[in-house]
Amino acid sequence: MCAQKKRRSLAEKADKYKCYLKSVQSPEHEVEFFDKAFKDEFHAKPTTLREDFCGTFSVCCEWVKLGRQRTSLGVDLDPEPLAWGEKHILSKLQPSQASRVRILEKDVREKTRPTVDVLAAQNFSFWLFKTRKELLEYFRVARSNMSRQSIMVMDMMGGGDCYAENMVEKKVIKKGKKGFSYHWKQVQFNPVTHEADFSISFKFADGSKLQDAFQYNWRFWTIAEVRELLEEAGFTKSYVYWEEEDEDGEETGAWIRAEQAESYPSWLCYIVAVK
Ligand SMILES: C[S@@+](CC[C@H](N)C(=O)[O-])C[C@H]1O[C@@H](n2cnc3c(N)ncnc32)[C@H](O)[C@@H]1O
Repeated sequence: MCAQKKRRSLAEKADKYKCYLKSVQSPEHEVEFFDKAFKDEFHAKPTTLREDFCGTFSVCCEWVKLGRQRTSLGVDLDPEPLAWGEKHILSKLQPSQASRVRILEKDVREKTRPTVDVLAAQNFSFWLFKTRKELLEYFRVARSNMSRQSIMVMDMMGGGDCYAENMVEKKVIKKGKKGFSYHWKQVQFNPVTHEADFSISFKFADGSKLQDAFQYNWRFWTIAEVRELLEEAGFTKSYVYWEEEDEDGEETGAWIRAEQAESYPSWLCYIVAVK
């Protein structure tokens, strides 16, 4: 009697890094923002990028498409996403572009040379440093990896909703049989330490799920704390970029410097620090 072959669920066939890239990242938008923030400060174009916590280094790969002088360096501790990026993203670049991407499997707190024009730490990754001492040390090293005229770019999230527990935000990424949705869960938040747990799951059309494909335990930093630490680390200025709104309160997709903003239940913004 021949054993019946069990059909694999869509979750079993899925690639968690591919799902992550489609749900969370927007490398074209990121590099466009880096150029804008650099131009706002120095009225010039940057050429060198270091992407800390680079994971699959999609931002590094996008950066080198913007011009032949552009080079990028991605730094991450984990060989798994680095290998995935090499196989699925770097390999799709033209050889002349790929040769300008350098990857280091290292701790972001290591100094590298040459220094860079833009140092990016995206998707809240620096929140894994949970004490002032640790974050200050990271900012000091990051600053030392930057050129004389340079910026550091970080993203931040916040708002009252972000302190709720067991809250799930769902987003349909692709519709239909091959579609999936992205679930961002705030698992728990400790108001005493500001430590928080988050997870990312993906749900597929057949009902199967990649449960907790990514999990994070972070310190929920505030903008004010981060800016104070940046100043302490030696950065001369820092700006907050908030998404611009039109007269009807609709987001325009443009990011502008702001020192005051509306207290929405949840928001995203950038902090840009000048060396
Ligand atoms: C939230 S993921 C961010 C991936 C990517 N930057 C993005 O924007 O989606 C955090 C990454 O930081 C890496 N990481 C954690 N601690 C690190 C450290 N001390 N030095 C270098 N990489 C680290 C992890 O391996 C992981 O790939």
